[in-house]
Amino acid sequence: MALETPTRARKRERPGSKNTAGLDLDELRKLWLKPLWLVLSDAFTDEPRTQIVPHIWKWSDVRPRILEAGRRISAEEAERRVLMYLNPGLNGAPGATQTLFSGVQLIMPGEIAPTHRHVPSALRVVIEGNGAYTTVSGEKTLMRPGDFVTTPNWAWHDHGNETDEPMMWLDGLDMPFVLALNAMFYEELGDGYDIQPVTRELDDSQTRYNRGFRPHRDAFAGNYSPILNYRYAEVRETLALMERAGDALSEEEGVMLDYINPLTGGPTLPTIDAHAQLIRPGEHTRAVRDTASRLYFVLDGRGASIIGGQRLEWEKGDTFCAPTWAWREHRVASSDAPAVLFSFDDAPIQKPFSFYRRQALLEGDGHQSSL
Ligand SMILES: [Fe+2]
Repeated sequence: MALETPTRARKRERPGSKNTAGLDLDELRKLWLKPLWLVLSDAFTDEPRTQIVPHIWKWSDVRPRILEAGRRISAEEAERRVLMYLNPGLNGAPGATQTLFSGVQLIMPGEIAPTHRHVPSALRVVIEGNGAYTTVSGEKTLMRPGDFVTTPNWAWHDHGNETDEPMMWLDGLDMPFVLALNAMFYEELGDGYDIQPVTRELDDSQTRYNRGFRPHRDAFAGNYSPILNYRYAEVRETLALMERAGDALSEEEGVMLDYINPLTGGPTLPTIDAHAQLIRPGEHTRAVRDTASRLYFVLDGRGASIIGGQRLEWEKGDTFCAPTWAWREHRVASSDAPAVLFSFDDAPIQKPFSFYRRQALLEGDGHQSSL
């Protein structure tokens, strides 16, 4: 559960010490030794510090370039035709934040991405295209715009496009976290199994688990949601109902829902939590921050966010990130249509160890500056 911290952290000068005490630092360096007291205040900081900076990847920049990649490199050559979203603070290392990878993947008509599996958990959110498939552990789903598809850790998965239009989706993975732990494994199912056998009916998991039922004496034992595809049409219906019911009265985050594992009520993936939120015309959400790092994808509409003091203008198809402990607030102009933001974050990695903290900005009007 979120730990609410009602007061802001007190700021004060850290005394620290730059006293080398006459020690020979060169000699210590050769022995791979160093006095902690010289760097104590860099390690035990008053608040989280991060290299990650707020950034937006505009769909109007990305779309023509991923389609150009589709003309220039075949799916076989590329293996995975993805343009990665790199955080400018990471000096080119793969990652949109310190724990989360994101990018856009393109599958042209007739192409496949062969069956493989890996330690990182993955999610997809469909940007453009209608009806291409992802198959995970023998269950196939046809993906429509805005759908949220999960691919758990070490699950066999493959993709294909049997439609006559390009299919593009946002990938989200916990890959930088797995790499930081040096825990990566990857393998392919191999010759003859580029397309894995489909062993279940279409929408099997939705029908079993997303209707308030579960099979009697269910044997599902995963630490992830058994549901493969969360349909955007259902998300919009639920957000609309919540809006009619007045669920946005807290002024924080607009009307927001969490995608859940129906067996636990927890996140869909053990390392990644996912949400959708409706920002209504004229709404300006109160600034909040937490220790999770986060990516937003604009499912519908347009608006602006202030992330860590930086204003980002967004519209449908854009992706932007919010670093750890950066204030974030969203606004949609009263003359615009309602906007829907999808977001995913690394809070599930932090919560089991009590690292997670969240705070709302209570001073002034609850905003960093006027939008
Ligand atoms: Fe994959």
